[in-house]
Amino acid sequence: MHFSSLPSTSQTGLHPRLDEVVRRHLDSRWRQPIRAHTRQAFEVIRDRLERAERLVLDSGCGTGESTAGLARRHPDALVVGIDQSAARLVRAPELPDNVVLVRAELADFWRLLVGAGLKSTLHYLLYPNPWPKPDHLKRRWHAHPVFPDLLELGGQLELRSNFELYVREFERGLNLAGNVDAKVVSFSAGEPISPFERKYSASGHRLWKLTVNLEAQT
Ligand SMILES: C[S@@+](CC[C@H](N)C(=O)[O-])C[C@H]1O[C@@H](n2cnc3c(N)ncnc32)[C@H](O)[C@@H]1O
Repeated sequence: MHFSSLPSTSQTGLHPRLDEVVRRHLDSRWRQPIRAHTRQAFEVIRDRLERAERLVLDSGCGTGESTAGLARRHPDALVVGIDQSAARLVRAPELPDNVVLVRAELADFWRLLVGAGLKSTLHYLLYPNPWPKPDHLKRRWHAHPVFPDLLELGGQLELRSNFELYVREFERGLNLAGNVDAKVVSFSAGEPISPFERKYSASGHRLWKLTVNLEAQT
């Protein structure tokens, strides 16, 4: 068993530029062109997305193990696992019929969903890359220019991480967007939802979960 270490950062609290960066992104829509491969991947499943009554997103799904579990838990929903890594996606387990796995860039895929007027019922962000270096602030999803689109996808969002700072900053980002309903808890994973949760849990890491209803956005 390979034990992993916690993300290490020189930050001693929320990033000093967090508010400024998030506010700037909330004030404008990100206009970077959408990459062709993600647009193609979206178009291939667009019809299924539009016909789904309930959409569950597993953003950064890795091998799709969590996607398969979510699909079994929500048989009435279309569960979409999205990841940029072909190497991870090819390791997917056997998938229920209500799953689609997509190789795509999340920031582009989310904007395509928003552009098509599609909303998620449930949105899971399980162990996103922590980007612990202060210089990498804008790669964390709450400080990324796509953050307003992520919020517009709506539904019940669940973020899990072993990096408390990421979760606390995400909560602050939500506050700046006018949402004060997020709940942050530390939890232990009885039955790990995903490979990274299993790995971090076995390494003795404290795990963090943020849940928020994005419909409550003011
Ligand atoms: C730390 S892993 C977590 C995987 C899985 N959610 C789990 O809990 O086992 C982060 C995943 O996010 C994916 N990812 C990171 N940035 C991405 C992006 N911009 N677009 C799509 N996938 C991304 C990576 O390829 C990787 O599989």
